[in-house]
Amino acid sequence: MSDWKIEIERCPEDRRGAIPTDGSKLGFGRHFTDHMFVASFRRDGGWQDPRIVPRDSLGLDPAAMVLHYGLEVFEGLKAYRSAEDTIHLFRWRMNAERMRRSAERLVMEAPPIDLFGAGVEALVSLEKDAVPRAEGCSLYIRPTLVASDPFLGVRPADEFMFYVLCSPVGAYYASGFQPTRILVEQHDVRAAEGGLGEAKTGANYAASLRAQRRAQKAGYNQVLWLDAKEHRYVEEVGTSNIFFQIDGKVITPPLGGTILPGVTRDSVIRLLKSWDVPVVEERITIDEVMAAAAAGTLEEAFGTGTAAVISPVGVFGYEGQDVEVNGAQVGPLAQRLYDALTGIQYQREPDPFEWTTPVP
Ligand SMILES: Cc1ncc(COP(=O)(O)O)c(C=O)c1O
Repeated sequence: MSDWKIEIERCPEDRRGAIPTDGSKLGFGRHFTDHMFVASFRRDGGWQDPRIVPRDSLGLDPAAMVLHYGLEVFEGLKAYRSAEDTIHLFRWRMNAERMRRSAERLVMEAPPIDLFGAGVEALVSLEKDAVPRAEGCSLYIRPTLVASDPFLGVRPADEFMFYVLCSPVGAYYASGFQPTRILVEQHDVRAAEGGLGEAKTGANYAASLRAQRRAQKAGYNQVLWLDAKEHRYVEEVGTSNIFFQIDGKVITPPLGGTILPGVTRDSVIRLLKSWDVPVVEERITIDEVMAAAAAGTLEEAFGTGTAAVISPVGVFGYEGQDVEVNGAQVGPLAQRLYDALTGIQYQREPDPFEWTTPVP
C-alpha cells in the first residue's frame, strides 16, 4: 500500500488477552486485539516512527491538548473474513479521506492517505486471527488522531499521535434483521451550520448523549436529529445516515455540512443508481415524512452505517405518537441493500465497484 517502513514489536504471550470465539459473546466495542498501530507527528519533523506495538496506555501528558480542547478525530471501518478465509477491507480510502477532512476542520494534521492505509493494513494483517469467523461478525477498526502537545491555551496544535485499534465485533442483528424504534428529537441539536457536524470528532457524540439517553429511557433505540435552525429538516440518526422511500422514490438529506458523509450512505446511493431505483439527495422535513406515513406512501425508512450496514426503521416517535413504517417490518429495499452490501463485504458476491481490498 505504501513505502512506509513499519517496525513491529510483538506482544509477549503472557500479556495476550482472550477474545471470545463464540460470535454471540462479542458484542460491539468491548474486546480489543493485542496490538495497536502508532505514528507521531511533530511540526519540525513531519510524520515519523510508524510502528506496531502491544496495546497499552498512550503515555499522554495530562496537559495534552486533546484532553482540554477536544482536539481529536476518529474513523470506523471493518475487515471481513470470507468463506475462503481471505480478509478484506471495505472502502478504507474513503475513511482515510474523511479523516483528512475532519482534521482540517479542527486545524489538525491528518496522516497522509498512504500512512493511514499502511497502518491499517499492517495491523489487520498481524491480527488476522482476530477477524471473527462466525456469521455476520467482523473486525471493527478504529483509527484515531489526537493532539498531544502539552499546552494550555486555545490555539491549533503542533504535535499529534495517530493510532489504530482493532475490536472483533459480533453480528449487529444477533436475533435477526430487526426494525428499530426512533424518536424524533425536537429540542437538542447535534450540529449547526458552520459547526462540526460533518467532522467525525468526539464533540458531536458528546452533544448527542443527553437526547440519546432520553430516547432510550422512553423505549426507543436512537434519535432522529432535525436541523438546528428551524427544527424541521431531517438530518441523520444516531450513528447512521437516513433514507426514506416515498412513492417509489428514495430520498436522503444532502451533505450540507451538518451531517456525517457516510461511507455506507455513498455505497447505498451508488447501488440504487446501478439498479435504476430513483434516488435523490434532497432536504425533507419531518412533516413531509409524517404526511407520507399518513397517506400510506412512506414505504420504507432505514439508517445506513458501518456498524449495522442497513438499519430499517419500524417506528418513528413524534409529538407523543408512534408512527409505524411498513407495518414495523423489514422492507424489501432495506433487505436487498443489506444483502448486496454484505454480499460484497464478505466476498459472497462480485465486487463491481472495486470497494474491497484484500489484506495480505
Ligand atoms: C453521526 C454518524 N452519521 C453517519 C454515520 C455512518 O457513516 P459510515 O457509513 O461511514 O459508517 C456514522 C458512523 O460512522 C456516524 O457516526
